[in-house]
Formats: sequence, structure tokens, C-alpha cells
Amino acid sequence: MQLPDENIEFHYQRLLANPADAWTPLAELQAQHFLSPDRLDAIKPLVSSIRGQVAAERELQNPPPKLQPLHAGFIDLPARTLDNYRRKQDSSELGKVLRIANRLREDVDRLVVLGIGGSYLGGRALFESLCHTYHNELPAKLRMGKPRIYFEGNNLDNDPLQDLLELLENTCVDPDITDERWGIVVTSKSGSTLETAAAFRALRNEAAKYYGPKSEMYRRVVVPITGAKGRLRDMCRGDGYTDDEMLTIPDNVGGRFSVFSAAGLLPAAVLGLDVRALLLGAAMMTKRFLEEPFERNPVLQFAAVNYLMAEEMKKPVRVMAVWSKKLEALGLWYDQLLSQSLGKTGRGVTPLTVVQSRDLHSRGQQHQDGARDKVINNLFVRTPKQPPMPVGMSDRNEDDLNSISRRSYPDLMEAAFRGTNEAYADTARPCADVVLPSISEHTIGQLMQMLMLATVVEGRLMNVNPYGQPGVEAYKQNMMKILKATPNLPKGEVRDAAKGM
Ligand code: PA5
Repeated sequence: MQLPDENIEFHYQRLLANPADAWTPLAELQAQHFLSPDRLDAIKPLVSSIRGQVAAERELQNPPPKLQPLHAGFIDLPARTLDNYRRKQDSSELGKVLRIANRLREDVDRLVVLGIGGSYLGGRALFESLCHTYHNELPAKLRMGKPRIYFEGNNLDNDPLQDLLELLENTCVDPDITDERWGIVVTSKSGSTLETAAAFRALRNEAAKYYGPKSEMYRRVVVPITGAKGRLRDMCRGDGYTDDEMLTIPDNVGGRFSVFSAAGLLPAAVLGLDVRALLLGAAMMTKRFLEEPFERNPVLQFAAVNYLMAEEMKKPVRVMAVWSKKLEALGLWYDQLLSQSLGKTGRGVTPLTVVQSRDLHSRGQQHQDGARDKVINNLFVRTPKQPPMPVGMSDRNEDDLNSISRRSYPDLMEAAFRGTNEAYADTARPCADVVLPSISEHTIGQLMQMLMLATVVEGRLMNVNPYGQPGVEAYKQNMMKILKATPNLPKGEVRDAAKGM
């Protein structure tokens, strides 16, 4: 059962324009840039009816053309996954994820996770937010059997891929020693994304050489996660994999909504994260979304406030200011979720992730003083995982910090947070706060599900289909046309990119 102090909350009162007693320059600016409480009240019935529509879409077997594509499966996926696990244990999809994760932990010390977009960013967000900041550098004993992890197949960049191959070649010499074994998790729902497919080809060849192409170890340490159909599934079947040895992203779950499928759960489980707590957090957020009134419903609040700021208050830039280094990848995951879901038919805000307090020294000036085209959503964590570290006393006090020597890092962060918000308020810069009691599997599960649900509600409010990404196809088609139009060079020769293709 979820305790109230584990709930994440959305606080938006600071961006509401409260009626002023007298005219002041600030009151004038607030009236222009803050949201009128009456306008927010007026939209609540529409938001509630959209919630009903989104809930009903879960049941549609044959959606009408205007709703296609429809990938509403993510909404019930966390609860369904937990329920299946409770009933079927090892033979459920989660049981399979846990079994494969345990096996990978026993078998390898380094794991390369291949995937791009929705098949990559969720897993990376879970890794960065929930694992030790220097996980890969920790000695094996401190990692407690959890492999080091590397994300590839998310770019067409020659050098990082070769650097990774070089690292594996130099650190893994004897495949009979566990500490020198590495594995691959390749995630591609379509099974035909060039970035992932090309990297898989390179790494798969290396793995086949290292372990032997027909060896049992090769099949144990190379794990595909893919859609029910497609080239990757066919290729793995050709390699002798049974369907039971592959993990599946359900048809009705879109890439950027797939973090609670095997795409996110397998890397999380390999890293020893509590995937049940993650799913429980997500399932609880779906329940809150479906059942709670607007006043206690962070999904509806976040969607309504941000929709109005974008569409009516004309703020085309949406900043996600994360107040923890650990949440940067989560911010990038939200960038993708928002851009690919709502950036359509000439519409949609531009998302921007900033990491505080770091970016107060880079983008801070512009956010405080630049164009009034932004709304800022802070993502603030109340309690850090590690014990608070004090500034401490110094005998000579050359840095003049003794007056705050008993303040801890969380005090400094909170002061920066409050100081920044006050400075925004003083110049009518709209901002709101998503507050996490702490960073845990349970809160991150809630947060990611909240942002996915809010994106779908916002899409329906805008009359933009949040599912599908037709705009991504254009570059892919051109790229393949260009590649196929130029002949392969003879073996050993390399094209000079600077001279053009
Ligand atoms: O959200 C999406 O659907 C996309 O970002 C995809 O995840 C991305 O293009 C990768 O696709 P695939 O998993 O088919 O390789």
C-alpha cells in the first residue's frame, strides 16, 4: 500500500495570477504571464472528460481511423505485469525478465545495451537516477554482481562504437573467466532501426568470435527485446533462439511509452533495481489518474497547466529543470516523450532539460531575464539518498564559508531552489514544481507514468494524436536512399566524408 508521504506532487500555485489590490508593474506582468485561476477552473470539466476518453481508449479493439495509431497499452501495463507475475510467477513476462536478468548477472561483468529513442532513453533514465553515480567504476565487490553497463546503438558515430569495441577487446580476454565476459541486450521494437541494427551487427560478430557462434554462452549473453514481428526477431530465430528466449515489447505499447515493458525492466533488473516497486509506483499513478479529482490528480494538473501555458499563454518553450544530477537522463527521456508525441502538424512546445544548480551558471541568465517564452517545471527531490554532507569548519576560513559551516549540501540545494523561485516570482516568470519525496524505484515509477499519461492527456486537449511519429520517417527514407545510391567501395577503402558522398 502506498503511503501518502511517498506520493509525488505537482505544485502550480506560484504560476497563478492572483488579483492584485493595486496596480504595480509586477501585478501587470503577472496578469500578462501567469495563468488566471478562472481560466484553469473553466478547463477542469474538459480535462475530466478527456480523462474519460483516454480511459475508454484502453478498451478499443478497432479504433476509428481518426484515433489511429492508438498505443494505449502502456496505461495498464504496470498493473497487468504485476498481476500476471502474481498469478503465473516464472512463466509470466516479468518472471522471464527476472530469470534472464539473474542469468546475465551471473554470466557477465559488462553489458552493452543497444537501442535508440524510446528503446534506450527509459533504461538510461532508470540507470542514472537509481544506480550509484559511479556504478561502472566501482570494484566488482561493491557492485555486488551487477555488471557494468554501456549504452550504444543510439547513434551513427564511428568513434564511440570503436572505443567500446576496443575497451571490450582489452578488458575481456578469456571467456572462461566471468569477470572477462560481456553481453548484449539489443532492443528494437521494429527490429529495423539502422543505428541499432548496425551496432548489433558489429557487436554480435565480436560476441560470436569471442564465445563461438554456436556456443551456449553466446545465446545466454545476447538477449533480444523486440516486437512480436520484425527483422530482429526473424534474425534471432535464424540463430536458433526460441520465442521463450526473446523478450517482447507489446504491439499496443509505443517505443517512448515502453519503459515499463522489458525495454526498461530488463536493464533495471540486471542492475539489481526493485522492478516490482517501480511497477507498483507506475500502477499507483495510473490509479490516481483514473480515480482522483483534479485537486489530488497530478496527471490532470500537470497536463492542464502546461497545456494552457503553451496554447493560451503562448509559452512555446517548456523547461524541465531537474534539481539533481541524477535526473538529467530522465529529463532527456521527457524531451523525447514530449517532442515525438506532440511535435506534430506545426504544433507542440519545445522541451528543454536543465540541470540545477549547474545550469544556473549557463542558462540561468536567460531564464531569469531573457525572452518571456518559457514555462519552467522544476523537478525537486526533498530527501537525498546519502546522509547530508555538511560544509564543515576550516581553521583559516580563506574561502569565507565558516558562517554556513553547519549547513549541509541539501540545505545549499534547497536555498538555491527557493532563491531561484523567488527571483522568478519577482519578475513574473511562470514556474511550477513536481516534488519527489526521494529518488527511489517507487517514486521514479510514479513520475515516469505521470509524465506519459499527462502527455497523452495534453495531446488529446490539443487535438494532436500523441501516438506514432510520422515525422521521423522522412530522414530515415532519405538516409537509406542516399546510402543505396552510392556503391560500396572495394574492401579496405574508406570514403572521405569531407569530400561529400
Ligand atoms: O518512441 C518511439 O517509438 C521511437 O523513439 C522509437 O523508440 C525509436 O525510433 C526506436 O525504434 P525501434 O525500437 O523500433 O528500434
